[in-house]
Amino acid sequence: MDIRLATKADQERLYEICVLTGDSGKDATGIFEQPDLLGDIWVGPYLHLSPEHCFVVQNQTGQALGYCIATLDTTSFETVAGATWWPEKQLSYTKPDEAQKENWSRDERLTHLIHNPLQSPSEFLEDFPSHAHINLVAEMQGKGWGKKLMTTMEDSLRSAGSVGVHLILSSKNLDALAFYQAIGYHVIFERDGQIGVAKKL
Ligand SMILES: CC(C)(COP(=O)(O)OP(=O)(O)OC[C@H]1O[C@@H](n2cnc3c(N)ncnc32)[C@H](O)[C@@H]1OP(=O)(O)O)[C@@H](O)C(=O)NCCC(=O)NCCS
Repeated sequence: MDIRLATKADQERLYEICVLTGDSGKDATGIFEQPDLLGDIWVGPYLHLSPEHCFVVQNQTGQALGYCIATLDTTSFETVAGATWWPEKQLSYTKPDEAQKENWSRDERLTHLIHNPLQSPSEFLEDFPSHAHINLVAEMQGKGWGKKLMTTMEDSLRSAGSVGVHLILSSKNLDALAFYQAIGYHVIFERDGQIGVAKKL
């Protein structure tokens, strides 16, 4: 096993890993009718817009078993994604009816995010301008690869001039929270079912 930069050729596999960890860290296979939704929100934008800060841990055949993908400057990333990535995806996914919000399916709740992309809270971006996502398949968890991937991502962002990085996780994902705290991250906000954690670089 070793860590390398991700490429666009990894996209299909990283989308799969996103589903395998997509239910607050647990397997979301079968939960979504359109499984690419998860990857289109949480993987694709990074692989396409900031590949220089996207890493995978691979096996001997080069297959990715986990990833840590990041972007240097959240504000510019959101601006560029808003002009390029999201408009193209909005053509592929029907916008859910706001009047039916109470009855939205899980697919519709995610489709809403294609049409109303998530944004990091702006008040933290001066101290923690970069952000990242990390997911490893179950058999790779608990063996130190998460920490190694995070260190690789942090080194990459620091070399490019970042002063801090944040991640946003589901408040249900207490294992991930414990992991981030074990490797030096602290909580910067908790709201609407989400927790933000961050670290100075
Ligand atoms: C969360 C995740 C990235 C952590 O990676 P990992 O490879 O399992 O973690 P590591 O083995 O590198 O652990 C690093 C440190 O965190 C600690 N840690 C990890 N999980 C922990 C937990 N649930 N509780 C307490 N400590 C934990 C380890 O003990 C280790 O501490 P040490 O450095 O003092 O030995 C990985 O388990 C994963 O992908 N989980 C499923 C998807 C997910 O939840 N992703 C995060 C979405 S926000």
